[in-house]
Amino acid sequence: TNQVEPTPRPPVVTIMGHVDHGKTSLLDYIRRTKVAAGEAGGITQHIGAYHVKTPRGIITFLDTPGHEAFTAMRARGAQVTDIVILVVAADDGVMPQTKEAIAHARSANVPIVVAINKCDKPDAHPEVVKQELVQAGVIPEEYGGDSPFVLVSAKTGQGVDELLENVLLQAEVLELKAPAEGLAKGFVLESRLDKGRGPVASVLVQSGKLQRGDIVLAGAQFGRVRAMIGENGKALKEAGPSIPVEIQGLSGIPQAGDEFFVLPDEKKAREIALFRQGKYRDVKLARAQAANLQNIFK
Ligand code: GTP
Ligand code: NA
Ligand code: MG
Repeated sequence: TNQVEPTPRPPVVTIMGHVDHGKTSLLDYIRRTKVAAGEAGGITQHIGAYHVKTPRGIITFLDTPGHEAFTAMRARGAQVTDIVILVVAADDGVMPQTKEAIAHARSANVPIVVAINKCDKPDAHPEVVKQELVQAGVIPEEYGGDSPFVLVSAKTGQGVDELLENVLLQAEVLELKAPAEGLAKGFVLESRLDKGRGPVASVLVQSGKLQRGDIVLAGAQFGRVRAMIGENGKALKEAGPSIPVEIQGLSGIPQAGDEFFVLPDEKKAREIALFRQGKYRDVKLARAQAANLQNIFK
């Protein structure tokens, strides 16, 4: 069989919170200080996903916009994630998208680590924000709840190391594992049509090893991975669990949140893609949609 033993994998952490509470700033600070200087590239802006190496382990971060228009993306973010960092600005407190993020994390059964941000500001009121979060059902560990609360500033870096330590502690408890070998699968984070490169999809590998040359089915699109680019803009030959990459070579643009699978057979991948586009009828395929697609090749 092609069964592969699961091995430990890095946590996938989604940063959520109300618009302008400092999600991207916090992630930028973490990247600036934890990622080797000069690694940043234009690509990262599109992926909105990065992994950083800390002395205690790797963490993969996904950024989400706070704007109302992005509710669906936040829902998907909660689904692909192991831990949510809930960012709440200390000068603004619990707001509608804060509550929405709490609801997403709860429905996905994902632990929440609270980052009370902007604590450098003179009008910061972290104690008031704490009470508001308790009202919203997020209880700090110090009150007997299960959410670590950390006071941070994305501007000065105050509390950021403590935040990362808390994330890694939560991750340890979860004992996250995935097969690091075998046919890859995961999720599409974002996709777009690039003028020169054609359809480009940012994907997060969840298990297995994604390799250049693999046949990929992503939602209703398929293709051979022609090129793979890491978050630092460099070409990659392979990517393992919890690693975000950009792939080229798909027939069209999959949707954010679509699952992707590596399949051993290009013809089959094309048929399934066409089936999903409503351009191909096949009873066996219709049944296979309900099952794990990789199983139909066994
Ligand atoms: P959306 O993605 O639009 O929802 O916003 P966001 O949550 O990513 O917030 P963003 O990082 O864009 O920050 C919003 C504003 O707050 C910017 O002007 C930041 O410079 C400022 N800001 C973020 N964090 C801090 C902080 O810790 N201290 C201070 N003083 N300002 C901050
Ligand atoms: Na913003
Ligand atoms: Mg942002």
